[in-house]
Amino acid sequence: MSKKIPLYIDTDPGVDDALALLIAFNDAHHDIVGLGIAAGNVGLEYTVRNALKLCETVGRSDVPVFAGCASPLVLPPREDASHVHGRDGFGDVDLPPAAHAARDEHAALALLRLSHEHAGELLLVALGPLTNIALALKLDPTLPQRIKRFVIMGGAVTAHGNITAAAEFNIGFDPEAAHVVFEAFPHFDLADWEATIAHGLDHDQVETWLGADSPRARFYGQISRHNRERGVDHRGGRWLSADALAMAYALQPQGALETAERPVQVELGGSLSRGATITDWNRQTGRADNARILLRYDQGRFERLAAAALTAG
Ligand code: BDR
Ligand code: CA
Repeated sequence: MSKKIPLYIDTDPGVDDALALLIAFNDAHHDIVGLGIAAGNVGLEYTVRNALKLCETVGRSDVPVFAGCASPLVLPPREDASHVHGRDGFGDVDLPPAAHAARDEHAALALLRLSHEHAGELLLVALGPLTNIALALKLDPTLPQRIKRFVIMGGAVTAHGNITAAAEFNIGFDPEAAHVVFEAFPHFDLADWEATIAHGLDHDQVETWLGADSPRARFYGQISRHNRERGVDHRGGRWLSADALAMAYALQPQGALETAERPVQVELGGSLSRGATITDWNRQTGRADNARILLRYDQGRFERLAAAALTAG
């Protein structure tokens, strides 16, 4: 078998982050070299705790977890997403904490170190606010030169937002960080909220997967219950899992059926539009295309990845 691709994930778990991580842990071709933890869905204390718990649940307490920034770069966030993910980010089901702890190294420093150790090979996936990655870029602007591919879950490319009318949560939580990242990386892959909406999962099918006799299915069934029930109430037939779709795109890019490359910038001002991802569809700005935007992904492939991750031993 050929050498595995080193994978570093910056994340704010989070129920959909957890499914993305289960998909990544179930992948035979990638090797998770570290998890950087952001504040976002809930506070950093909880997102770190959740990452550790997930690693323990899949028997991978060896994967280093690095705590990052506890707040956005410049301004306080509008709100967190505890109404979606539970106050503790994992559905408030009172799981006992993992037996192990996060490493002492800050997530921004860990990313820089690992980018040197895996220079030219690293797959970087961001599933939360981009605070840690922006900080790493400020410490070392040469970071993009060492990253092979960067996949971001974030944004809403025609301004169909979720946290506000125009902004998606990960970008809206820390727009300045997203601005730093979008300006610094010449190329990245973007799986936005609108792609998420276009690739919902059938609630009954998800229930079937969660009925599997496996510790992962039981764990995920517990932590996602509140989120899934809320999804039925708010969004009808399909359950949306933004980070899981982004991870499918990251691990199996051949599943992308339609993409578009365009310049994308982050709106920092605006009384209504702060945190929007302004996409230059007509290429009027003269800026270079920085984002390859995921428009359509093979739904069957996505579902098979999610099902396999949930039902794995
Ligand atoms: C994004 O926001 C968070 O609530 C999810 O974990 C996902 O990363 C979707 O807008
Ligand atoms: Ca997330």
